[in-house]
Amino acid sequence: MNTQATDLLVSGGKIVEADGVREEDVLLSGGLVAARGPGLEAPEGCEVIDASGKLVFPGLVDSQVHFREPGFPHKEDIASGALAAIAGGVTAFCEMPNTTPSTTDPAALEDKLARARGRAAADHAFFLGATEENADKLGDWENAVGCAGIKVFMGSSTGSLLVPDDATLERVLRSGSRRVAVHSEDDPMLKEAYANIGDGISVVDHPTVRSVECAVRSTTRLLDLVEKTDRKVHLLHVSTAEEVEILRERDLGELVTAEVTPNHLFLTAPHCYEEYGSYAQMNPPVRDARHQEVIRGGLADGTITCIGSDHAPHTAEEKAKPYPHCPSGIPGVQTILPLLMTAVRDGWLRAEDVSRVASKAACDIYGIEGKGSLSVGSDADVTIFDPDERGPLKLEWLRSRVAWSPFVGMELAGWPTLTILRGRVAYKDHELVGEPSGQPLRYRAS
Ligand code: DOR
Repeated sequence: MNTQATDLLVSGGKIVEADGVREEDVLLSGGLVAARGPGLEAPEGCEVIDASGKLVFPGLVDSQVHFREPGFPHKEDIASGALAAIAGGVTAFCEMPNTTPSTTDPAALEDKLARARGRAAADHAFFLGATEENADKLGDWENAVGCAGIKVFMGSSTGSLLVPDDATLERVLRSGSRRVAVHSEDDPMLKEAYANIGDGISVVDHPTVRSVECAVRSTTRLLDLVEKTDRKVHLLHVSTAEEVEILRERDLGELVTAEVTPNHLFLTAPHCYEEYGSYAQMNPPVRDARHQEVIRGGLADGTITCIGSDHAPHTAEEKAKPYPHCPSGIPGVQTILPLLMTAVRDGWLRAEDVSRVASKAACDIYGIEGKGSLSVGSDADVTIFDPDERGPLKLEWLRSRVAWSPFVGMELAGWPTLTILRGRVAYKDHELVGEPSGQPLRYRAS
C-alpha cells in the first residue's frame, strides 16, 4: 500500500460532493487532485484503489472537537483525537480552546501546533478562547498560522472559559473580522439553575437545568449584538426548535451560520438519558423529539448548514459521578459519517447533503482553503465509505482514548474504510498507515 504522496487513482466509485453524485474516477498526484472524470487511465507507476460499489467523499472537516491536550491527556490527547478523526474519514479538525491551560494567547496556540506536529494524523487548526482579559487583542491574534478563529463561551461548560456579559461580548465582536464560533447558553440563567438544584435530581433533568429559555435568551442576545456590530458568527450546536425559528425569522444572511451535532440529530430525551445515563449528557443538552424534528428540518432546508461533532471525551469513571457532578460531553469525531449515512438510508438527507454539511460547509463558513471538494487542484483528501460494511457500531472500531459511544450497537448504513490525507493513504481497514502527517490548515483572508 502506498504511503507516500505519489500518484493514486481512486476508480470505479461514486464521488459524493455537495453539488451532486457522479460516477467518476479521481487521480491524486503531488498531494492534490490532479484529474477527474469517468474511465481515467492510471499513469505508469500509479497505484489504483478499486472503489467499485463505494462512495468517495472529500475528506470530512470537523470544525468543533475538544481534545484534552494540554491538561487531561488521560481523556484524549491530540494524537488519539486525530487518530479517531482520520479513522472516521475526518481529514481536518478544528480544536476548541477549553483545555488546561485554556488556549487564550498566541503562545498557547503555538504550543498546540508544536504538539500536533508529527503526532496528528489529520490536518488541524486551533481556536483561541475569548476572555475578559484578551477581548481587545483577539483581532491582532486571529490570523496567526494554525488559528481556527475565536471561540466564545457565553455559558460555562467544561473548563473555565467564559465571556460573561454583553459588554465583554461586544468588545470581542469588535476586535477582528473572522467568523466567531459561539457556545450560546445564558450564563446568569445557568448559575441560577445550578444554585437551585435540589435533592433527587438526575441526568434526565439535564434539559430542564440547562433550559430551552437559557439557550433562547443567549442566542437572542447574541443576534442583537451581531446586528449591532456587523460581525459574523457561527452558532454552535443548536439544540432548540425555538432557535431554529429565530434563525429563520431574523434571517441575518451571511452574518449568522449555524451548526448541529449528530447527538442532537440522533438522540432524543428522555429516552437517551434513561438508556445511556450521563453518557448522553452534553451542553447544550439533547432535548425531546419536538426539538429534534425541527432541527432536522433546519438542516434539510439550509437554516443550519454545518455538522460539528463537538467531540468531547470524558472517561467512564468521570461519567459515573452522580448528576450534576458528572462532566458533560460525548465523543463523536469518528462517527459523523456513518451516522449521517443512516439519515440517507432512512430518507431524510441525500448523500450530497451529507457531503455539503460535513465536508464543504465548514470550509465555506470559516474560509478553509483546499478542502471540502474533490475538484481539480483541491487537497487530495478522500474518504471512502463502504455501504456493505453496514451493521452495528462496534466498540473495537473506536479510536478515541475514552473508547465509548452512546451509538455502540446502533445499526449503521456503512462505514468509512479508507482515508487518504493529501494524497497518501492514512487509515485503512481499522489501522493507521504510516506516520501521522497532519499539517496546519490554510485560511483565506477574511
Ligand atoms: O458538553 C460539552 N462538552 N459541551 C461543551 O461546550 C464543552 C464540552 C467539553 O469540552 O467537554
